[in-house]
Amino acid sequence: MMIKFRLGILKGYTDNYKQYILSCKEMGIMYEVIDILSCNWIELIETSNCVGFLCGPPCEFQEWKTIYDERLYVLNKIMKKPIYPSFDELYIYENKRLMSYWLDLHNYPRPETKIFCRKADFLDFIKVNNIYPLVFKTNVGAAASGVKIIKNKRTAISLASKTFGIVNPHFALGDLKFIKGKKWTFPSFGSIQKHYLIVQKFEEIKWEWRIIKIEDSYFGHQKLLKGNFASGSSRVGWHKPPEELLLLVKDICEKGKFDSMAVDIFERNNGTYLVNELQSIFGSYDDAQMYINGHPGRYLFKNGQIHFEEGYFNIYKSYLLRVKHFVNILSTGKER
Ligand SMILES: Nc1ncnc2c1ncn2[C@@H]1O[C@H](COP(=O)(O)OP(=O)(O)O)[C@@H](O)[C@H]1O
Ligand SMILES: [Mg+2]
Repeated sequence: MMIKFRLGILKGYTDNYKQYILSCKEMGIMYEVIDILSCNWIELIETSNCVGFLCGPPCEFQEWKTIYDERLYVLNKIMKKPIYPSFDELYIYENKRLMSYWLDLHNYPRPETKIFCRKADFLDFIKVNNIYPLVFKTNVGAAASGVKIIKNKRTAISLASKTFGIVNPHFALGDLKFIKGKKWTFPSFGSIQKHYLIVQKFEEIKWEWRIIKIEDSYFGHQKLLKGNFASGSSRVGWHKPPEELLLLVKDICEKGKFDSMAVDIFERNNGTYLVNELQSIFGSYDDAQMYINGHPGRYLFKNGQIHFEEGYFNIYKSYLLRVKHFVNILSTGKER
């Protein structure tokens, strides 16, 4: 297929634009790299002559994500330029509060979650619910970097004081985390988050399933636990994903009109499932994100049946599939 149009690749806080470049080159698509963080980014977009823009939002700091979200809002909602993945799924991405409302509204099974915007509400909650451990999460953060398991009321109250301030929000210091570098451990002042608490019931899990959907391709594997956390463990179980989960993810993506989505699902000790996370952008370090009996491949839905196709489909960290999907959307004018 000869593709005549030009795609814009947004260069932001992360390196994933390089994977978009490799994918466009492989497909013979003209592209232009646009510095979305530039002061004159609007002018760069307006003069670029691109029909659509490939995005890669950050996951590290709340402010970075907010800045990126705002620029995508202007680009997609006001300037009416097509973007990939869709605005809605990128808005939910790295926003555990918003993701929680979305899952709640659509009634998907998930860990019981409470989001507190007032200290008094949280203190009332722990007065009545004396159940520990409790899981606390920051709004952004990957690889379990913002997740804490709190074992008692005293620590929970101390966390609330840091988050909301002792007597006044002006005194909110936030919870400082420490990052392990190669030589030193250092305080990450840049990732302190304040003025809300995301609290979850602790679930005993066997492992987490990661089910991926990009366009019509589906993949699945297990994320195994290291200590309390599956996220960031780098331990993978290449086992056949349950069909029930593929169907669940299909349903989620249809409901949300999601283009590219990794859904992380807890498998509990009793065999039931809970949706933990939705991530439109996700890490994939292997050219296949699923192996069935040692064979790499993907699942496709055809005439209501799930069908396995062997091959390596996650080239360039799954970005090739994303670019193919975007090209399909733009050339067919398909409704998403
Ligand atoms: N409610 C919970 N109960 C038990 N373990 C949890 C819960 N929530 C998260 N975890 C553990 O913490 C890990 C990281 O949490 P997650 O919400 O996926 O954050 P991240 O965005 O850092 O991946 C999960 O992979 C899981 O192992
Ligand atoms: Mg996770």
